[in-house]
Amino acid sequence: MRIIVTGAAGFIGSHLCERLLQEEKNIVIGIDGCIDHTQRSIKLRNMKTLLNHPRFQWLDENLLNMDWNKVLLKNDVIFHLAAIPGVRSSWGTNFQLYVDHNILGTQRLLEACKTIPIKKLIYASTSSVYGEKIGKVTEDSDLSPLSPYGVTKLTGEHLCKVYSENDGIPITILRYFTVYGPRQRPDMAFHRFIECLVKKKPIPVYGDGKQTRDFTYIADCVEGTVSALHGDHLLGETINIGGKERASILEVINLLEELTGQKLTIDFIGKPRGEPRHTWADISKAEQLLHYSPKVSLKEGLQLELKDLLDLYKEV
Ligand SMILES: NC(=O)c1ccc[n+]([C@@H]2O[C@H](COP(=O)([O-])OP(=O)(O)OC[C@H]3O[C@@H](n4cnc5c(N)ncnc54)[C@H](O)[C@@H]3O)[C@@H](O)[C@H]2O)c1
Repeated sequence: MRIIVTGAAGFIGSHLCERLLQEEKNIVIGIDGCIDHTQRSIKLRNMKTLLNHPRFQWLDENLLNMDWNKVLLKNDVIFHLAAIPGVRSSWGTNFQLYVDHNILGTQRLLEACKTIPIKKLIYASTSSVYGEKIGKVTEDSDLSPLSPYGVTKLTGEHLCKVYSENDGIPITILRYFTVYGPRQRPDMAFHRFIECLVKKKPIPVYGDGKQTRDFTYIADCVEGTVSALHGDHLLGETINIGGKERASILEVINLLEELTGQKLTIDFIGKPRGEPRHTWADISKAEQLLHYSPKVSLKEGLQLELKDLLDLYKEV
């Protein structure tokens, strides 16, 4: 199968490409222009095993300037992960970046799929489309993003639906909940905590630290994503991909103390803008349609991320 992964040099995209290449029948074309705030050296590290793989090709291109007619072939499968992620940096003048890459980039891809009949497009969306909710959220919950980032990702979802209805593009939407593990983005909480731990700085915590997240280990997220490849029953569906465990930020810091044997100092840095107090995925639809079953506990997953990031900070 010929599979295109946009955002292939990113945190989730690089793991997804590796997983897809485990199946000998797959050829993977990874598109990533190393666009966002993460350093290029980190993107190249993410792709370390991919770049020498005989069935992987990297296109170092920006989706906004790309000629899709030269890349896309009939019956391709596309995982569309390229985006500018991150809630906190989506305010102010940065918003332009989010509009360009998350909205316009998606719309251009959908335009190309109008003329080239692809097999399937899987769009990576986010729990940020839900906003503040109490209890578990199902896919038909009301959508009220709290941040400009969430607005751009929700617009991407709407564009997918509009093109699917008008042009018959076969699409499935996945909503990821806080993904973590090796290669997690430097702007994400666990990565920032571990960086501070290495540099012996206080751990910056927004709010009172009692906010909770549904944390999804990267391998679980990737398994759920790959399962969305097969079956016509998934077309037009939107599916939550949540994790095995929820925890508060303070509980995560306690776990880090336990794993490292170090006492950590916390620096409370005020309330964040645009972030819900709690996220909690109802994953019954994923269980039913994708046979999804997240397996990795927070302690195991955090330990694996810790190991990877300790290696990273030894390398730099
Ligand atoms: N990481 C999470 O917890 C999380 C949660 C919910 C949703 N998501 C979604 O999953 C996807 C991947 O997230 P991630 O954490 O791996 O982010 P990431 O920043 O590590 O990866 C995204 C990649 O897309 C690339 N990119 C952006 N715009 C591009 C363009 N115009 N042309 C070519 N490449 C471009 C970037 O260079 C980057 O490498 C995103 O769509 C994000 O919104 C992530």
